[in-house]
Amino acid sequence: MGWNSWNWFADHVTQEDVKRAADLLVSSGMRDAGYVYVNIDDTWQGKRDQNGVLHANEKFPDMKALADYVHSKGLKLGIYSSPGDQTCARYEGSLGHEQQDADLYASWGIDFLKYDLCSLRRKMLADAPGNKPKQNEIMHDAYEKMHQALLKTGRPMVYSLCQYGYDAVWQWGPEVGGNMWRTTEDISADFNSIALIGRQQAGLAKYAGPGHWNDPDMLEVGNGQLTADENRLHMGMWAMLAAPLLAGNNLTKLTPEVSAILTNREVIAIDQDPLGKPAERIFAEGPIEIWARPLADGGRAVAVINFGEDENFLRGITLHLKEAGVDGSMTARDVWAGKDLGTIDEHDRFSVKRHCILLLRFRKAG
Ligand code: GLA
Repeated sequence: MGWNSWNWFADHVTQEDVKRAADLLVSSGMRDAGYVYVNIDDTWQGKRDQNGVLHANEKFPDMKALADYVHSKGLKLGIYSSPGDQTCARYEGSLGHEQQDADLYASWGIDFLKYDLCSLRRKMLADAPGNKPKQNEIMHDAYEKMHQALLKTGRPMVYSLCQYGYDAVWQWGPEVGGNMWRTTEDISADFNSIALIGRQQAGLAKYAGPGHWNDPDMLEVGNGQLTADENRLHMGMWAMLAAPLLAGNNLTKLTPEVSAILTNREVIAIDQDPLGKPAERIFAEGPIEIWARPLADGGRAVAVINFGEDENFLRGITLHLKEAGVDGSMTARDVWAGKDLGTIDEHDRFSVKRHCILLLRFRKAG
């Protein structure tokens, strides 16, 4: 869990923005809710010197001092690069300098690396035209190369693979040391993007677990024109998916409403549940889906989500308790409402409004 600069600052991010984000993670209570990584995304890079050593650009005058500052706040610092010669924003990538870059990150005190395919894709296509298996091999090797470089530094760093799910990365991500891997193209701060990416996670639960997670991309909670319902749906669904929670909003404009959504302890507890089993989709009919996941205490989290547009949609839905693994003796709590509901009968019907999520936590009796 943490915060990443891209979704809000994009290519405008500066050292000052990152320091302020660190301050605000602490003062807002987000750090204490679990958001500890402060991740600088693309556009921090400058040029390499004659020895090939990369320097940060003028917007990041002192990375080591920045890392010290972030660490002094009880936080960790993340950074970004690409296995290609250029990042997606066309800054310097790590191709041919993997060990040098990994050593540089370690010397600064970096704790997390997001490694974004970007221009390596062009190279894959150029080096092995029409040969998909060979292209994929180039990609695997590139991710493995940085994995080995990171290990060689001796400094533990979370290794975040970002290649938009190509070649079913969930099947080979752990082999190249990935602690998390993006499963889709980029998210954006609009409901359709969030709904599309959320729904694309169906079938992927079995590939994730402690230490290696599916990453449906960073949170847009608090960005764009998302309503409170949409922010709750986004956060609630990402918690069901056991997704890495990397907030991507402007913390200098954090409203009490957005703060309450991002720091809801019961929602975070579902996301971070120690069993580490993401939800699977157990029911889908039109815009309505039900997702369920088992929890370490023997209970279940169940989410009923309405992705539809119809304002007047009021047809009651049963919870499909059996498929969700809920037995009749379990008691339910409406997590976003903070309300205990007691036991639920399999015939009980629930209505979920447009762009809303009903997030329930079931506990064993006694
Ligand atoms: C890609 C990634 C994004 C972001 C940008 C930065 O699009 O998927 O998350 O890192 O690059 O250029």
